[in-house]
Amino acid sequence: MAQKSKILVLGGTGYIGKFIVEASAKAGHPTFALVRESTVSHPEKSKLIDSFKSSGVTLVYGDLADHESLVKAVKQVDVVISTLGGGQISDQVKLIAAIKEAGNIKRFLPSEFGMDVDRHHAVEPVTSFFNQKVKIRRAVETSGIPYTYISSNAFAGYFLPTLAQQNVTAPPRDKVIILGDGNVPAIYVKEEDIGTFTIKTVDDPRTLNKTVYFRPRGNVVTFNELVSIWENKIKSTLQKIYLPEDQILKTIQESPFPANLMLALGHSMLVKGDAANFEIESSFGVEVTELYPEVKYTTVDEYLNAFV
Ligand SMILES: NC(=O)c1ccc[n+]([C@@H]2O[C@H](COP(=O)([O-])OP(=O)(O)OC[C@H]3O[C@@H](n4cnc5c(N)ncnc54)[C@H](OP(=O)(O)O)[C@@H]3O)[C@@H](O)[C@H]2O)c1
Repeated sequence: MAQKSKILVLGGTGYIGKFIVEASAKAGHPTFALVRESTVSHPEKSKLIDSFKSSGVTLVYGDLADHESLVKAVKQVDVVISTLGGGQISDQVKLIAAIKEAGNIKRFLPSEFGMDVDRHHAVEPVTSFFNQKVKIRRAVETSGIPYTYISSNAFAGYFLPTLAQQNVTAPPRDKVIILGDGNVPAIYVKEEDIGTFTIKTVDDPRTLNKTVYFRPRGNVVTFNELVSIWENKIKSTLQKIYLPEDQILKTIQESPFPANLMLALGHSMLVKGDAANFEIESSFGVEVTELYPEVKYTTVDEYLNAFV
């Protein structure tokens, strides 16, 4: 059997990054996490870093701003996965430069982990944010570095524990605000599953220079279906308040950051249906559960059981 690729994760101490690091180590890939030295003494992140070490992960000290540290880290591995955060998207040009200089990388996964930034109907400020990811895609393609884009859609943990309601800490039991008519399919994927599927793509020739879309059947639901699943679990009917699109667009324009960004993401996903409103064509993409039907994932229905 071919040796599993060595994987370097940048941003492994971040929200989605930790799931990627853990999945990589669990799948038996020699796993490296680039961490900033200052983060090692951070009270909460130090515990996470200790757990990485217990899983056999090799820590590499470095910083996106330190070119030599990047080249040195990249030279030790075969695959680079970036889970850098929203504030570091554009700065990934520095990582691309380091990968080019190192010259040994078989696959690069830039920080994506959302909807397809080349296929959407989002409004500002999401458009500008997505455009940063688009620019990184074009830079990767121009560089000739082999790549895979992970379009994992919505992080379940961001949306399902509150049913996407603002300023609450649990799913609603009395009333729910629904963007648009609630009939548009969206896709929510549990973070552990994003980790498992993402790691499967890195050595797979079918995902080379492709976008991998996450559309597990049990995770594609309209908002009305989501509410109905929840109502069945709590054996109660919620009052439904539907917000029409023109009102949503007006509120986005009038809201400060980051409320405008969150609502504009909701508009793109829940009103325009940008997670699932196009066909995946083999020229540019592949669907993850078609590639790996053997992976047992958590459905939206199963996910919500934890909140009853
Ligand atoms: N689909 C969704 O629902 C959804 C939701 C949120 C985010 N996302 C996407 O997921 C991706 C990751 O976002 P996230 O929220 O998980 O990220 P995050 O929690 O903000 O984590 C950022 C990571 O980058 C590291 N980092 C920051 N500056 C660095 C530097 N100069 N050098 C090296 N490392 C640096 C941080 O390290 P430290 O620990 O040292 O600070 C941290 O590990 C993004 O593309 C984002 O757009 C998707």
